[in-house]
Amino acid sequence: MVIEQPWERIVPIHDIPKERLIGFGCGVSAFDQWLLTSARSAASRGECVAHICVDSNGLPVAFFTLSATSISPDDVSNKFRGGLHGLIPATLLGKLGVRTDIQGNGCGTRVLHHAMQYALRSAQFVSSRLLVVDALTVDLVPWYENRGFRRLPNAERRLVCKMSDVRKICSQQTPGYFTG
Ligand SMILES: CC(C)(COP(=O)(O)OP(=O)(O)OC[C@H]1O[C@@H](n2cnc3c(N)ncnc32)[C@H](O)[C@@H]1OP(=O)(O)O)[C@@H](O)C(=O)NCCC(=O)NCCS
Repeated sequence: MVIEQPWERIVPIHDIPKERLIGFGCGVSAFDQWLLTSARSAASRGECVAHICVDSNGLPVAFFTLSATSISPDDVSNKFRGGLHGLIPATLLGKLGVRTDIQGNGCGTRVLHHAMQYALRSAQFVSSRLLVVDALTVDLVPWYENRGFRRLPNAERRLVCKMSDVRKICSQQTPGYFTG
């Protein structure tokens, strides 16, 4: 079943009061704890920015993080290398989580699409060839593969999606899909 998008808007971590993050749970306590205690400092020191999907009461229902990264050309096939010989500029989707009570309704996929859209927008200003993700577990690798990512040949959990494919995936969404 796919439910109505349960968030109203997406805000960067600094725009949500810390107390609103208390009680958010995605089922991975390390993520929940990180969001509450470390996400702000991570943004301040330029490590990554957490983007929070909030409902009409301003409460978090999901989040994702993005940062700049690079990939060694030796780690990817020619298709992903695109003729580059030096480090390949990329965007890292570091963390992604959906509140446990709404999981399994297409929300995770939708949050992933929002993260893709943000990565794409960012790449219009700061070049990035690939969107990279490290699946939290091996079990989650197919979840990303079914959503456009390909696992790197010598990595158990690292996957990439070409930014040109991210663009195609985002453009396949219906008008109004990317609210927030
Ligand atoms: C992974 C996560 C974002 C998926 O959110 P969601 O709302 O359940 O996602 P969707 O509804 O779009 O997709 C549901 C599908 O994902 C699968 N799935 C969800 N969590 C999974 C997991 N940990 N391992 C393997 N598959 C998983 C479900 O079985 C379901 O499969 P189906 O479509 O074949 O029935 C969510 O489970 C979550 O927040 N997990 C905790 C944090 C986490 O692991 N984040 C991933 C970081 S790499």
